[in-house]
Amino acid sequence: MEEIRVKAASREYDVLVGEGAISEQLPRLVSGREAGQVVVVSHPHLLSLHGEELGSALCDAGHVAWEKRVFLFPEGEEHKRPVTVIALQELMLEWGVTRKGVVLAFGGGVVGDLTGYAAATYMRGMDYIQLPTTLVAMVDSSVGGKVGVDMPGAKNAVGAFHQPLAVIADPGLLSTLPRRELLGGMAEVIKYGFLYDERLLTLEGGSEGWVRLTEWERAEIIARCVRHKAAVVEKDERDLAGERAMLNYGHTFGHALEAATGYVTLRHGEAVAVGMIMAARAAEDAGKARVPLLELHRKLLSPLLQEAPSLEGIDAQKVIDAMRSDKKREREAKFVLLERPQRPLLVEGLPEEVVKRAVEETLGDLWPENS
Ligand SMILES: NC(=O)c1ccc[n+]([C@@H]2O[C@H](COP(=O)([O-])OP(=O)(O)OC[C@H]3O[C@@H](n4cnc5c(N)ncnc54)[C@H](O)[C@@H]3O)[C@@H](O)[C@H]2O)c1
Repeated sequence: MEEIRVKAASREYDVLVGEGAISEQLPRLVSGREAGQVVVVSHPHLLSLHGEELGSALCDAGHVAWEKRVFLFPEGEEHKRPVTVIALQELMLEWGVTRKGVVLAFGGGVVGDLTGYAAATYMRGMDYIQLPTTLVAMVDSSVGGKVGVDMPGAKNAVGAFHQPLAVIADPGLLSTLPRRELLGGMAEVIKYGFLYDERLLTLEGGSEGWVRLTEWERAEIIARCVRHKAAVVEKDERDLAGERAMLNYGHTFGHALEAATGYVTLRHGEAVAVGMIMAARAAEDAGKARVPLLELHRKLLSPLLQEAPSLEGIDAQKVIDAMRSDKKREREAKFVLLERPQRPLLVEGLPEEVVKRAVEETLGDLWPENS
């Protein structure tokens, strides 16, 4: 079992990574809670796949009636909305859940972000535990306490910083994750590689290498990513000092692409993969790159897009406009670019023509019908 301590200013907690981690670690974390005070949040399909493992861990901790405190909502980014949070919180009130309760977020980033936000605002803040089930959630979204929901046209526009009580990541759960989701998660792994860790750029077989890794190697890679994230969160929990902003490598372009395609066409990781290729192109074009970057980005990231739908016919201007109206306006002017791998820079005032060329040429390159 890999144990990583996240020393955030507001709370310290462990991220526990390993096969069987939920059965092994969850019982001790919930055993002291009163009956009826442990709430599970998930999707119906996910609970039908892995509910047994979760249920037996809860029963081991004495919560034999756990199924009476389950809130399920449909899959998809379109349900990461305030209305879902309100439905959950209304139910928790009806169940008599108090601030001493704990909510378990059993799912990907959508479940984690939404549950964390519900926990942050229920009775002015209660505990929650992240039980990530996707690669994106294991290596990134479950750690660091950024929680929130989307508003129409504005992703993550309403949220909070609320650190979990613990994160338990069991890579065994990824065996049922659709291949497209796994490839999307690799974009976040490769992001850590470009920012901090050469080893993550040299996985045998590139982005598809994951599929061939052993369980032990998978746990090791997840733990490596979590260690990088923990180090950043330790220095800059609230994203004020510029350190945490580095984790947005590929995200300024990626979020704009997600917005321009209505948040449903691309998986989050796919949008970030395209965003990193755009950022590499912009770094070269703006003279920030000290070594060639584009080819390496293309080689590692374009295979992730093999199952993404074609963006043929997308209007590049729509992507650029979406960047302008990004809610994080201060980030609009700031791009994370690389001088070289593992040497990120926060760049302000990137010329508009550079941004435009990066978007147009990347879309034309990946989907030649657009050129
Ligand atoms: N808070 C943060 O710091 C942060 C960081 C990155 C991303 N995010 C957010 O995370 C979200 C994306 O998360 P995601 O990529 O995990 O997507 P997701 O949560 O939508 O999950 C993807 C799909 O996989 C299914 N699934 C999950 N686990 C499964 C499993 N083990 N087996 C089979 N199916 C499974 C889900 O039901 C869903 O349909 C976005 O909303 C993004 O904004 C947040």
